This record gives sequence, C-alpha cells and structure tokens, in this order.
Amino acid sequence: MFKLNENYLKLPGSYLFSTIGKKVNAYSAAHPDKKVIRLGIGDVTQPLAPVIIEALHKAVDEMGHAETFHGYAPDLGYEFLRNAIAENDYKARDCSISADEIFVSDGAKCDSANIQEIFSLDNKIAVCDPVYPVYVDSNVMAGRTGTYDETTETWSDVIYMPCLEENGFAPKLPEKTPDLIYLCFPNNPTGAVLKKEQLQEWVDYANKVGAVILYDAAYEAYISEEDVPHSIYECQGAQTCAIELRSFSKNAGFTGVRLGFTVVPRELKCQGVSLHSLWARRHGTKYNGAPYIVQRAGEAVYSEAGKAQLKEQVAYYMKNARYILEGLKSAGYTVSGGVNAPYIWLKAPKGMTSWEFFDCLLEKANVVGTPGSGFGPSGETYFRLTGFGSYENTVEAVERIKALQL
Ligand code: MLT
Repeated sequence: MFKLNENYLKLPGSYLFSTIGKKVNAYSAAHPDKKVIRLGIGDVTQPLAPVIIEALHKAVDEMGHAETFHGYAPDLGYEFLRNAIAENDYKARDCSISADEIFVSDGAKCDSANIQEIFSLDNKIAVCDPVYPVYVDSNVMAGRTGTYDETTETWSDVIYMPCLEENGFAPKLPEKTPDLIYLCFPNNPTGAVLKKEQLQEWVDYANKVGAVILYDAAYEAYISEEDVPHSIYECQGAQTCAIELRSFSKNAGFTGVRLGFTVVPRELKCQGVSLHSLWARRHGTKYNGAPYIVQRAGEAVYSEAGKAQLKEQVAYYMKNARYILEGLKSAGYTVSGGVNAPYIWLKAPKGMTSWEFFDCLLEKANVVGTPGSGFGPSGETYFRLTGFGSYENTVEAVERIKALQL
C-alpha cells in the first residue's frame, strides 16, 4: 500500500492566494452585478512592453526554421541571457557575480520553494513574520518545520523574526542561531526595505554563525531611495553566505510569461562542497530550462529600449502605490510601504482582524486585498494592497475605501 508524504497533511488550510481567489469568485458569482477591484495578489496588469513583444515574435519566427530552431535550452540558461544579467544586474552595481554563477529558471516562486532541497533536513530556518508563505510551506512539505501550533499559528522548529511597526518592519538578529535565513527586501508583504548597513549586519552575522541567507530580491526594481541595496552582493562578504533569488515578474511584467534566476556564488561552500555544484546538479536533473523564446524576451529587458520602457512601467505601478498610500493616509489609516515597493501595508481600522477587514472591504467596497494574518501571526490586524492594478481601478478602489469612513 502506498504511503503519502505526511508532511503535506500538516499544512494548515490552502495556499493563501488560492483561498482568497475562492472567496472572491464565490462573492462574484453571488453578486454578478458588482464590479470587484482586485488589489490582492501581486499580479501585474499592464501589457508586456513593446520591445519584449518584438523579441518574442522574433524568437517565435526563429523556432519555425530548421536553421534557427532551438530544442532543449542549456541547463543553466542561455549565455546571452546570463551575460546580460551579470552585466546589468551585477557588474553595473559593482557586484562581482559572473555569468556562470547565474541559474536561469521559470520564476522565483519555484526557486524559492526548491532551494531548500540542497540543505539537510536538520537545518533550522529563520523567517520574517509576516512572510511570503512559500518559504515556510516548502519547508513544511520537506519536513523541516516540526509541529504546528494552531493557537499561535507557528511551527515548533521555525525561528520567527517579528517585523513590527516599532522596528520599522525590519527583522532583528534572532536570539537562537538559524542555519538558513530567508530575507525578502523590498519586502513582501510589508513593502519595507533594509538600508545597506542594515543588510551588511545580516551578511556579517551569517558569515559569523555559518548560516546561509536566501535573499529574495524580486522587487528590487521598485527601489526609489538611495542607500537601499538592489542586491545582497552589494554587501561585503555576501559571496560566502548568500544565495539571491530574482524574478522578471514584477520588473518586466512576466507573471504570465515565467522567467527568473538564482545566483549561487562559487565561493559559497559547506565543508569544502560548493552549493553551486549541488544546485547545478539539481537543475540538471529536475529541470529542462526556461524556453528559448522566453529567454530572448528576458534578454530584451536589458536592451536600452527595454530599460526605458520598463522604467515607465514600474513608474506606472508606483504611481498607483503612491495614490493608495497618500489616499489612505489622508483618510486616517496607518499605512507604510509603497515607496520602495509596490505593496502598501496598512492597519485594519476599528480593531478589526485582517480577515474581518478583508470581508468588510469585499462586501462593502468590492475591493480585494490580502489579509496580513495570511503572511504569519505578526501580520494579524494588518492588510496588504498592491499597486499592480490599473490606475483607474486603483483610484476607484481608494475612493470606495474612503467612502466607507471606517
Ligand atoms: C504576492 O501577491 O505575494 C505575489 O504575487 C506572490 C508571488 O509573486 O508569487
């Protein structure tokens, strides 16, 4: 008789965004006359930039001719894309990351869920609280998190680092020593950032205690302030303690196209074994590479035209973020984020829980957001809105929320 991976049975409820999707679909089915505005999941809404469409068309045409046809992509990604990434995302920021330390994939969500596989089950993970749920859930599935306490909504073997208003939503160094530290900055869900010297502290700490930082920089394109690092490799010593996860979803609108990459520096070693070789082995065995067509589209992101068009796209979403931030602040809400990130983090009014506020907004304003408690216990009573809607919908959503006079 076959047996299940019982770790899956420990997972409470369904994936956060699936739960929200189901609730919203049920509401829409019951109220077909209502125009629901979705500012919940961080999914982009603007069309792909012209330069990307052009690159996609060109690559599709190439696939139609024997001389330019491409079969399996190289395991770690095409050199043209890895070189463009190394040059633009790293060399241009004085980070010494070479093309062969970059692993192209179909997105940061998969990479952030899969990367734990190359580490022993004995490793203790530390996560921010609130946190992008994929980091914790993927470790639950692997059997690394111990038992779940329904009252505290925490796992016995996970080190939680509360990110609260009083610490500017930045985690403090943990009291117990972790082996793997998940950090995401600009942060999902709070929109907070770490200044360079704050991130340097984490790098120094990880090198000192022998931990690895899994650094999710999916939102780096939204950084608007100086002195906020775009990559962890801007910090001294990060090559010996950090893996960086990057996505094309938010900086280039690829949520439906799928492309990302992970950087594993060759210097990052555990007792002489390089993590680079393990991740390369994993990639080679389990993955056949992102499609040629998509990697060509990724290359176009780094062209001069691509950079200019995407700067405009990011500015569009940030205008939305600013509108939400300022609109809700003027209505008396306690709000943060939205300056270096497309997410606005707000306190639910009138002592409501996160889910009470979710229901209230859905039913009374027909606006969808994400309950903060879905990201962890310290997210309770908070709520996340995204700047990824259309400008018109964003304005309408803010006006509807204000009109509730909560
Ligand atoms: C979010 O809403 O948190 C993101 O869209 C999730 C993701 O990027 O997978």
